[in-house]
Amino acid sequence: MSKLSVNNKIIDTILVLDFGSQYTQLIARRVRESDVYSEILPWDIDEEKIKKLNPKGIILSGGPNSVTKSYTPRAPQIVFDLNVPILGICYGMQTLAEQMGGHVISSDQKEFGHSELEILTESILFKDLDNKINVWMSHGDQVQDLPDDYDLIASTSSAPIAAMQHKKLPIFAIQFHPEVTHTEDGQSILENFIFKSCNAEPHWKMDDLISSRIEEIKQKVKEDKVLLGLSGGVDSSVTAVLLYKAIGNNLTCVFVDNGLLRKGEGDQVMQTFKDNMKLNVIKSESQEIFLRHLENIEDPEQKRKVIGRTFIDVFDAEAIKLKDIKFLAQGTIYPDVIESSGSESNEARVIKSHHNVGGLPDEMEFDLVEPLRDLFKDEVRRMGIKLGIPKEMLERHPFPGPGLGVRIIGEITKEKTLILQEADHIFIEELIKADLYDKVSQAFAVLLPVKSVGVVGDERRYAEVIGLRAVETVDFMTARWAHLPYKFLEHVSNRIVNEIEEVSRVVYDISSKPPATIEWE
Ligand code: XMP
Repeated sequence: MSKLSVNNKIIDTILVLDFGSQYTQLIARRVRESDVYSEILPWDIDEEKIKKLNPKGIILSGGPNSVTKSYTPRAPQIVFDLNVPILGICYGMQTLAEQMGGHVISSDQKEFGHSELEILTESILFKDLDNKINVWMSHGDQVQDLPDDYDLIASTSSAPIAAMQHKKLPIFAIQFHPEVTHTEDGQSILENFIFKSCNAEPHWKMDDLISSRIEEIKQKVKEDKVLLGLSGGVDSSVTAVLLYKAIGNNLTCVFVDNGLLRKGEGDQVMQTFKDNMKLNVIKSESQEIFLRHLENIEDPEQKRKVIGRTFIDVFDAEAIKLKDIKFLAQGTIYPDVIESSGSESNEARVIKSHHNVGGLPDEMEFDLVEPLRDLFKDEVRRMGIKLGIPKEMLERHPFPGPGLGVRIIGEITKEKTLILQEADHIFIEELIKADLYDKVSQAFAVLLPVKSVGVVGDERRYAEVIGLRAVETVDFMTARWAHLPYKFLEHVSNRIVNEIEEVSRVVYDISSKPPATIEWE
């Protein structure tokens, strides 16, 4: 891995060494919010790779292990040999303490939540901050004895050694989590480390990043042709516009309409990218073939597989029609890379599985272009805004690759798709009108596989049931059902049963994840 450059300038990097905390990505994002580039590597990565990265500073993340057990992760020697500032957070603090000769104890009681931190000794880490800070704790173990050469710098009532620093070297450790927003001044603490101790330069600026990515694409692709599967989602949209700025009409986008999109979505994508932005987009009208392949299939996983496979067939067929394509562009982003196989892995060169593109025929050999590979989602969104992509496209709720296919419970038919599209459209339209759309993380309608009796005038009808689902979540791993106002739900329900003849009943899903998932299938 070579050091990252933006506009030919080698940029300063803060390495986040990952010990498995759920907050690791958040640490890197916070560093980047200060315009300093940050990269995550697993704690057991080859030491040479850390050396090559040549970081200006290293943050040791938290993690689920206990240093009081044997064979738990440790910071590799290179971390100390590089002579750069080090900041240990939570588990990172505990392993530092243990490795430096201090002592960590396991406490039966896990401390989770707010705590008041009292700063006892002057430290660059807390420079210009109040003496008392409200911090966020999440730990079982804690440091009981300081290592030699370390000073205590802050305490809380339950963690007497809540922060420590080396007497001479720029090595710091804190028991609380500065990366979570619940910690007051958390960003200032991180910035004190980044700027005052590491002396990092804020080179990671969006404008520079865009111009440098465009330049890199030009140099890589030259006069060759590039193919991109455009889904209308944030990542592929930003990739498309970035590539278009770099190579113009040498980019061909293929947008597959599988008939399982939200109402009007196909037209909206085409209008945004082809008509307004003048991108070269081919729309593959593939509704019939998807429906045909999905006939008689009720099992959700089976549906996902069929939709995925059909997507590949359709995409391949379009690609084969195009001549002289040398590169395939993908909207892979940093969390995909980290989650698939380590942050600098080349093995992650598989087509994004959640776009349900599993592979291309062997005879088609492409090189990959992935200009968003080291960006977080919020950075991709910011880039999209700067590139002029409409905000509504960038801030849309996530939509699963199999689309409405997993929201029509049981077999998929064209009639059911139309009913669901209509109900979903009403729900989303009303959320936007009531200024609630941005307040929930994901909202949609589901068509249930039961019928229910209703009356219209004097007439009884046996008709479909629509489920509405809205959740609040940060990471989509856990989610709380959104407490939408009753009045609002009543209004949506009225509209759905009045405007869609085939529906007689609407229910609202009040299950959280876990144990329920966000989608119904
Ligand atoms: P669950 O239902 O697992 O969903 O709680 C978590 C998030 O993932 C999305 N999701 C999918 N996205 N292909 C996708 O591209 C899929 O098969 C799929 N299943 C779920 C879901 O919409 C939610 O945002």
